Amino acid sequence: MRSAEKPAKVTIRPYEPFDLPGMYRVCLATGDSGRDATGLYANPDLLPHIYCGPYPVADPGLTFVAADERGVVGYVVATADTVGFEAWLEDDWWPRLREQYPRELAADPGDGTQDHLRVAHLHDSRPASDELYERYPAHLHIDILPRGQGAGLGRGLMGTLIAALRSRRVRGLHLGVGSGNPGAHAFYLACGFTEARRAAWGSTMVMDLRAG
Ligand SMILES: CC(C)(COP(=O)(O)OP(=O)(O)OC[C@H]1O[C@@H](n2cnc3c(N)ncnc32)[C@H](O)[C@@H]1OP(=O)(O)O)[C@@H](O)C(=O)NCCC(=O)NCCS
Repeated sequence: MRSAEKPAKVTIRPYEPFDLPGMYRVCLATGDSGRDATGLYANPDLLPHIYCGPYPVADPGLTFVAADERGVVGYVVATADTVGFEAWLEDDWWPRLREQYPRELAADPGDGTQDHLRVAHLHDSRPASDELYERYPAHLHIDILPRGQGAGLGRGLMGTLIAALRSRRVRGLHLGVGSGNPGAHAFYLACGFTEARRAAWGSTMVMDLRAG
């Protein structure tokens, strides 16, 4: 194996604004249930505009990256307050994206791309309420490039985020994992999450941050 194929020394550190392009690439490269979603999109930004970008913009203190001399290898993004975050999306994040990507683009062009689904998402998304948010108000997304997987970076990023949430006295954390991504499901269990709900789309995992 060439030495360039494995990261030499990966550092986990707080997010800097210059990380955002690399984070967008990681999001796309892992965006198909953990696999590369590049071929599914004509516009590489649409998926990260939903699942990556808004978090460091809304609350940069809850984004952490794993990076080496080749760039961003992985990240965790989060909000401490899902209800507040969704209100912020509605007021500040979605309106300009809806302008940029009009609803007409939500029509399926029939070429196998999924851009139209993401455009529909940003138009149809509305602040949701869920009794689960009371006990587990924070939520997260975590993604690591294949070259960084299986080396403890996920656990490291998760531990860093949990420490940051605990220092803010956030009481609990939740996330969604698709049924097509059993590896991530196993990862969350290994990190101490438990499964609160299972549905056809996947599982809602939770962690009480007051314990431990
Ligand atoms: C899921 C992901 C974040 C895990 O990060 P990682 O750095 O590979 O995981 P780590 O090396 O820190 O592993 C931590 C623990 O999780 C377990 N784990 C990680 N990936 C696993 C897998 N695919 N299957 C089973 N267990 C797994 C490890 O065995 C380890 O447990 P241990 O410490 O008890 O041995 C990473 O593989 C990833 O980003 N995948 C692609 C994107 C993705 O699926 N994101 C989640 C979307 S919901």
